[in-house]
Amino acid sequence: MSELQAAAKRAVGEYVASMISTGMTLGIGTGSTAAMAIEALGARIREEGLQVKGVATSFAAERLARQHGVALTTLDESPNLDLAFDGADEVDPAFILIKGRGAAQTREKIVASCAEQFVVLVDESKMVDQLGHRMPLPVEVVPMAVSPIMQVLRSLGGKPEIRMGKMKDGPVVSDQGMWVLDAHFDGIQDPDHVNDVLLKTPGVVDHGLFINLATQVLVGRSDGGVDVLGKS
Ligand code: 5RP
Repeated sequence: MSELQAAAKRAVGEYVASMISTGMTLGIGTGSTAAMAIEALGARIREEGLQVKGVATSFAAERLARQHGVALTTLDESPNLDLAFDGADEVDPAFILIKGRGAAQTREKIVASCAEQFVVLVDESKMVDQLGHRMPLPVEVVPMAVSPIMQVLRSLGGKPEIRMGKMKDGPVVSDQGMWVLDAHFDGIQDPDHVNDVLLKTPGVVDHGLFINLATQVLVGRSDGGVDVLGKS
């Protein structure tokens, strides 16, 4: 990550931390930008005695939240969250997202869907006119269904590959014990259709298209400023 990109991520992390007040229940996102928000939130807890609790979207987010003194809860205890924050890999003009570079998209979507406000934290490079040109679409699958699901993804115009571990032989295994396919598209023309087809395909646990979930997008600029975009 360049210094300018880190400054942009830090800016949105601090901005969302400033939106949080005592008593809130939070959704705690995964990834390097969400990590900046967790760090900024931890600083407010330490320095101001802010009292919040959050549901983590991954083992990674859970560990980071603990390190920064953010109290954790579960959706069993707190099924209605006030505000969830998370990063994204791409954001289109209708606030549809591609998420899941960290393979956490299934829990991230569950948590976002439980939140009154879902605040997306990105830098300018993530804003796109059409999804799927630069980033593949992650699809979490039950391992025995991987081949039929790859056929379905090909019929949708995607080129799927199994995400492989970097410091582990074999496929990446998600926090749910599932595999992740990365489907490369030459642009996703109709995200609703892709969503409908995938959610009707047996063996698909969930996928990284987030439709009608984001309520606000905070875009960090490399000069450290933040553009606040609300859903129109
Ligand atoms: C993890 C995610 C991340 O939020 C997304 O990949 C953005 O990550 P980063 O903030 O590191 O760029 O969806 O599953």
